Amino acid sequence: MSEANNRQVLLVEKPTGKLGPEHFRMVNGGIPEPKDGEALLRLRYLSLDAANRAWMHGATYRAAVEANTVMSGGGIAEVVASKAPGLAPGDIVFGDTGWQDYAAVPAKHLSKMPKLEPMTHLLSVYGIAGLTAYFGLLNVGKPREGETVVVSAAAGSVGSIVGQIAKIKGCRVVGIAGGKDKCHWLTSEFGFDAAVDYKDGGTYKALRSAAPNGIDVYFDNVGGDILEACLPQMNNRGRIACCGAISQYDGVPSAHGPRGVPGLIVVKRLVMQGFIVMDFMDQRDAALADLQSWVASGKLKVQEDVIDGLENAPAALIGLLAGENRGKRMIRV
Ligand SMILES: NC(=O)c1ccc[n+]([C@@H]2O[C@H](COP(=O)([O-])OP(=O)(O)OC[C@H]3O[C@@H](n4cnc5c(N)ncnc54)[C@H](OP(=O)(O)O)[C@@H]3O)[C@@H](O)[C@H]2O)c1
Repeated sequence: MSEANNRQVLLVEKPTGKLGPEHFRMVNGGIPEPKDGEALLRLRYLSLDAANRAWMHGATYRAAVEANTVMSGGGIAEVVASKAPGLAPGDIVFGDTGWQDYAAVPAKHLSKMPKLEPMTHLLSVYGIAGLTAYFGLLNVGKPREGETVVVSAAAGSVGSIVGQIAKIKGCRVVGIAGGKDKCHWLTSEFGFDAAVDYKDGGTYKALRSAAPNGIDVYFDNVGGDILEACLPQMNNRGRIACCGAISQYDGVPSAHGPRGVPGLIVVKRLVMQGFIVMDFMDQRDAALADLQSWVASGKLKVQEDVIDGLENAPAALIGLLAGENRGKRMIRV
């Protein structure tokens, strides 16, 4: 089979500890024939997501990724052949293509995307990341003007958009991120009011001075110790939007969660709500209209981290989990 056939990255073994390059292997598969109702896709941009690692632990809102299968992942792809009504060669779609050059995917699992430039925005601000930030903050966190919003993994793809939308809504915004440089970047480039470096130790105290009036909305991307540091600083009737738990994804999940949760929730009348972005897809058009107008007016900056080559996907995911990325990390295939 020639190199040009269909490069596929397999997950050869489910990691029991930290994810490493040894868990992946690249092979050459054939180009599949689309069946009735399917489209043959050529992947253009592959999304790298912290959740890719979580899927290896077991079934969640989707099926688990199994060993010795093509690694799952969403991407922006071009239709090259179609046996599905409504899809034609040249159309651009989003779907779970997996980590491979070509995939035959049922049309019912694909979303047709507008043709806009740069195409990468379909994965970042107008993709899952932007919509997760938008719905999670506005529909779950429900910030009001003047309130304090704290977001973790703040320099990542979801977090960097959450913080900016909160600024647009007139909130005081504190980001939590790993390292001095990322923290400086959040305040100097993205207009965050303050940033806390959780790798510097003393997150609880640093948050106290960054959010002296307490926290009204905590957008939680990470769970674990950072959630534990935020909880006691929540104001009465505060809202915690539980978006993800990155601190628990890579390696063996830690045995302790945040301590003292039930008492705090009662006394402070907190609302702690998990959500999945798909819950709000009936409001997608309105959300995209807002995101597009904020990008056009320069109120919302889009940060993308594009890495060339499907062969680099394993290292790029391992690096994302270690905090290498700023903004939305993806692979140009
Ligand atoms: N609920 C939904 O529908 C939905 C949809 C999409 C994504 N998500 C969630 O959104 C969150 C962001 O995911 P993403 O794919 O956009 O990744 P991302 O934020 O672009 O990148 C992950 C970032 O997490 C930080 N991180 C890694 N380990 C950490 C730890 N132990 N403690 C604190 N921070 C850590 C790293 O930055 P530092 O340098 O700052 O450590 C890294 O850059 C995830 O929790 C994901 O599951 C949820």
